[in-house]
Amino acid sequence: MKRWFAVIGNPISHSFSPTMHETWLKQLDIDASYIPIHVEQNNLEKAVESLKLLGCSGWNVTVPFKEDIIPFLDEIDDSARGIGAVNTVVKTLDNKYVGFNTDGLGFVESLGSILPEQNILLIGAGGAARGIAHAFNSLGYTQLTIANRTLEKAKVLVEELQTGQALTLEEAENTLDTFDIVVQTTSLGMKTSEASLPIQLNRLKENAIVADIVYNPLVTPFLEEAKKNNVRTINGLGMLVHQGALAFSYWNGTKPDTDGMIQQLIEQIG
Ligand code: ATR
Repeated sequence: MKRWFAVIGNPISHSFSPTMHETWLKQLDIDASYIPIHVEQNNLEKAVESLKLLGCSGWNVTVPFKEDIIPFLDEIDDSARGIGAVNTVVKTLDNKYVGFNTDGLGFVESLGSILPEQNILLIGAGGAARGIAHAFNSLGYTQLTIANRTLEKAKVLVEELQTGQALTLEEAENTLDTFDIVVQTTSLGMKTSEASLPIQLNRLKENAIVADIVYNPLVTPFLEEAKKNNVRTINGLGMLVHQGALAFSYWNGTKPDTDGMIQQLIEQIG
């Protein structure tokens, strides 16, 4: 039987995953397909049963189902257990459906080579920040600082990780020159006025790396501000492509071309 993969979510029509995976399958001459499936909010369990029944070999999970899908899977890998969210499901050889999370690992991969002793500042303590914080932690990066508007949420995350420190946004802004890598994970990245920066970047360290997990627009207000300081900036496209590449490798046993895909999507997003 021809293998097939899917992405489930709501909404799903704007997802880049089908284009990405179909391109990679073709490039690597793998006889399989990848389809987007729109699932109604209260139909998740039925949708998962249907995917299993129809022999889906693996699927991605996007908003709003990343947490809710967990009870319907057979097993959860450590990467998903820590975060409490699944973005990739893999059908094993003994027909079990195992949940993984490649979002945070994908983000870390998108940074390229960074050193374990580098000081990392994560701005935000929501779902996206959780994934990234757990990924850094699992890879041995212990110099983690989480800064959040609601300090309590940053503290909870730090406690969970059993490493790092929690700061207010103001504290982070005032000590910005102590961080080598600054990562913007809040929902503010998508808005376009300057007032929407979670922190000001006046005190950026020379040679810092500044990343935003948002990829549309490609240059967020946060990255635009960072660029004024002549530092290296990274947008969320790398995270999107690397999380997909990891899922692809779990399903197909081979890593696809990430650099070419980033270029392709830059042209598409414009
Ligand atoms: P996601 O899953 O995308 O991370 P989320 O879980 O709703 O979304 O988290 C949103 C993050 O953006 C949180 O860290 C939130 O801060 P609070 O915990 O204080 O709510 C942050 N955020 C949202 N709006 C913000 C704003 N106007 N200023 C600063 N931070 C903001």
